[in-house]
Amino acid sequence: MTAVTVRVPAKVNVQLAVGGRRADGFHDLANVFLAVGLYDHVTATPADRLTITGEGRDIASVPLDESNLAAKAALALAAHAGVAPDVHLHIAKDIPVAGGMAGGSADGAAALLACDALWGLHTPAERLLELAGELGSDVPFPLLGGAALGVGRGELLTPLEVGGGFHWVFAVADGGLSTPAVYGECDRLRRARGTGDGVADVPAPEADPALLAALADGDAEALAAALSNDLQEAALSLRPDLAHTIERGLGAGALAGIVSGSGPTVAFLTADAQGSAKVAAELGACARVAEAPAGAAAVLAQP
Ligand code: C5P
Repeated sequence: MTAVTVRVPAKVNVQLAVGGRRADGFHDLANVFLAVGLYDHVTATPADRLTITGEGRDIASVPLDESNLAAKAALALAAHAGVAPDVHLHIAKDIPVAGGMAGGSADGAAALLACDALWGLHTPAERLLELAGELGSDVPFPLLGGAALGVGRGELLTPLEVGGGFHWVFAVADGGLSTPAVYGECDRLRRARGTGDGVADVPAPEADPALLAALADGDAEALAAALSNDLQEAALSLRPDLAHTIERGLGAGALAGIVSGSGPTVAFLTADAQGSAKVAAELGACARVAEAPAGAAAVLAQP
């Protein structure tokens, strides 16, 4: 085989319930992922050593070295399989960078699949999911696509039923937000409010039954009413301008607006394609329209 290209979707968190900070520094989550139709493409080709290149909007802010999750994924899979990580990875980016849409994690998941195919490993899906979970909390989900509940630090997935399509508009903000910084701000705000040290006093996170029912029914209005993100307050504290973005989208008729994951992308759920067009027109150049659910990361047929 000479080249393998994998297409991988972004995600939005329709519920992100954040529990206490654990001894390992991570937070227990009930994290409802929904795959959305914005995609990166990762192409793996044989090479004499691990190299990585990229293209696309914002590629200048993506580290094209061994700190990239795609490179880490190739190294992890090679070590697991006992093969040499001699591969060139090319990332064509369309998912917003550091935007709370798991673009870096998507590239890690895509690299796992691409290298598995290029090297003819046929690694069982369960094992790929485990490797993905070791790479990062958000890396396994794109291997499933659709919708899933993530517990633990978000990496332990159960697929969820989705009964219809949902229309989204994403407002991509200038500059990223660091995920650890947003979790840190969430802990700080909780401490300031007297909810303890961020460990003991925070209730265990649970998936919202109304939200799961809305997904299963494909009911956009019910989903809009149930959207929640425990990191939103922290993201708004670090980026107060996002509140204005949310107001603009709601003013243009969005059913709901929510910070995506740790932000700073704001996700608007709309009633239909027309509703999305109106919200996108209001937001201007930063708007990205997408539908959900998107499918899992997948190897594309060779041209
Ligand atoms: O797992 P991942 O590498 O994507 O996590 C990035 C950072 O986000 C972690 O280092 C941690 O600061 C924060 N995080 C967390 N709890 C989670 C997931 C991520 O505190 N469940």
